[in-house]
Amino acid sequence: MSVLKSSKKEEHRKQTLSLMWATDIHLDHVNPEKGAMFIKEMASKNPSAVVITGDISTAETIDKWIIYMDRTFNCPVYFVLGNHDYYHGSIEGVRQKVRQVTRNTVRVKWLPEAGVVMLTPTTALIGCDGWGDAKLGDFDMAETRMSDYIYIKELVGMERPRIKQILNALGLDSARYLARVLPEAMNRAQFIIIATHVPPFAEACWHQGRRGDARWLPNYTCGSMGEVIQTAAQNSMYHQFLVLCGHTHGYADVHILPNLHIKVGEVEYGNPVIQDIINVC
Ligand SMILES: [Fe+2]
Ligand SMILES: [Fe+2]
Repeated sequence: MSVLKSSKKEEHRKQTLSLMWATDIHLDHVNPEKGAMFIKEMASKNPSAVVITGDISTAETIDKWIIYMDRTFNCPVYFVLGNHDYYHGSIEGVRQKVRQVTRNTVRVKWLPEAGVVMLTPTTALIGCDGWGDAKLGDFDMAETRMSDYIYIKELVGMERPRIKQILNALGLDSARYLARVLPEAMNRAQFIIIATHVPPFAEACWHQGRRGDARWLPNYTCGSMGEVIQTAAQNSMYHQFLVLCGHTHGYADVHILPNLHIKVGEVEYGNPVIQDIINVC
């Protein structure tokens, strides 16, 4: 994807920035050497900046990978957390740990803490974690054995009505954050890149080669964030929005509106890949 108008490409070539995007790299599914090799491979391509849309590792090692990336990359690295990043820990605990570790990192920044990042004078990057928030689809029909309910402290041992409340609240939390930062981003930039973990729209939810149905949507879309993004895009056709996300591991490239484009990364566990290098003007 490029937010650069093709007729202007030559003229602006020197002003563009290359944004490398990866998602769901799940470094806990490869041995540490292979994980380190993948990070080095990303860095060796000399991007201007990197964005990672969650599911980097798990609660036990997320801080170590953040520090490793900080030492390996020569450019800014922005990330959001995915549900797997909380596995074997708690949401609060991981967020606290990540907040603390990124206070001391030079290049690697957690987007909810970074706020509005001006990649170029016309393009802003913002982001927040997002969650499968049980807003879309039918939660009563949804998959009952999500690993999240086993490995994330806040969800362990909860009855389903309580789980639904927690998922709703997590989605709302992300949506409120986005509603807070979007106006500033839109004031400062025409092009807005939103990084998040969970696809905010049903149209972009593909899982195991099939479009997400009522059973999958509750855990594979963040409906509350979708409402905020769609409203912003509908209210200003002047702005162009690109949403980058992962979570479903199923490729999607969809225009929800003429000025609202969403891309979902395809990835297999144990085989981290670079999704795209985006030319940003
Ligand atoms: Fe994932
Ligand atoms: Fe995920």
